[in-house]
Amino acid sequence: MNEYFTLAQIDETAAAVRARTSEMPKIGLILGSGLGSLAEAVENPIKILYNELPHWPVSTIIGHAGQLVLGQLQGQQVAVMQGRTHYYEGYSMAQVTLPVRVMQRLGVEILIVTNAAGAVNPDFEPGELMLLTDHLNLIGMAGLSPLRGPNLDELGPRFPDMSRAYDLELRGFARQVAVDHGLLLREGIYACLAGPAFETPADLRFLRAIGVDAVGMSTVPEVIVAHHGGTRVLGISGLSNKANLDGNTLTTHAEVLEAGKMIVPQLITLIRGVMARLK
Ligand code: HPA
Repeated sequence: MNEYFTLAQIDETAAAVRARTSEMPKIGLILGSGLGSLAEAVENPIKILYNELPHWPVSTIIGHAGQLVLGQLQGQQVAVMQGRTHYYEGYSMAQVTLPVRVMQRLGVEILIVTNAAGAVNPDFEPGELMLLTDHLNLIGMAGLSPLRGPNLDELGPRFPDMSRAYDLELRGFARQVAVDHGLLLREGIYACLAGPAFETPADLRFLRAIGVDAVGMSTVPEVIVAHHGGTRVLGISGLSNKANLDGNTLTTHAEVLEAGKMIVPQLITLIRGVMARLK
């Protein structure tokens, strides 16, 4: 298992993508659990299965198709990851974030990261969208950083600033789109836990006490790598379930996937609207 990748390895993967299309993406999209059907909106799609790309980690779980879709969305060249991998699947942090590195080498300047998350804020409901304003990197604090290992100075600094990981202008665009389309767009702080077990009620009360609005098992490593490499980030959670702070209800993956069906149409509206404002 690769604990970290060299620039040559990252470029090997990028070359394998280039071999399949001459149109290079400017915008990258990562689709979370149950949100993969958004990739069907891509025009003139070129689909590359993850297992066709050297070094690229392959999704092992239901709800993640496992392919890279290149094409146009809202008149822009995009690279859409239909499914991602997570640390809990057994991959290293470097593997989980390799796709972001490859996108950077292909010329992606903006990364739109989505996820399914549990609503920890008691005011938030399943089926709603939440704009990430910041994150709480609990797994990073515990030592699991995707930037561990030799720094790739060509891509970014050893000690990157993270005070503006979520781009202010993109957040503003998302707010405008939500207003224009009458979408309810919550805002808040996302915490990434390693999973795969969902949280205990005590875990959730702890998360709420430290200011978390939504909890999931992804996104934060990808955002750190994106920001390290100078890629602008927009982060959106689709709230799939209410986190169970009192221990009265169960959380299931099936519920997460089911909520995705309600969330995808709103997410498409939001993402198309933001992309229209990027021109
Ligand atoms: N907890 C952690 N990850 C999740 C959840 C949750 O409640 N829902 C979707 N992903």
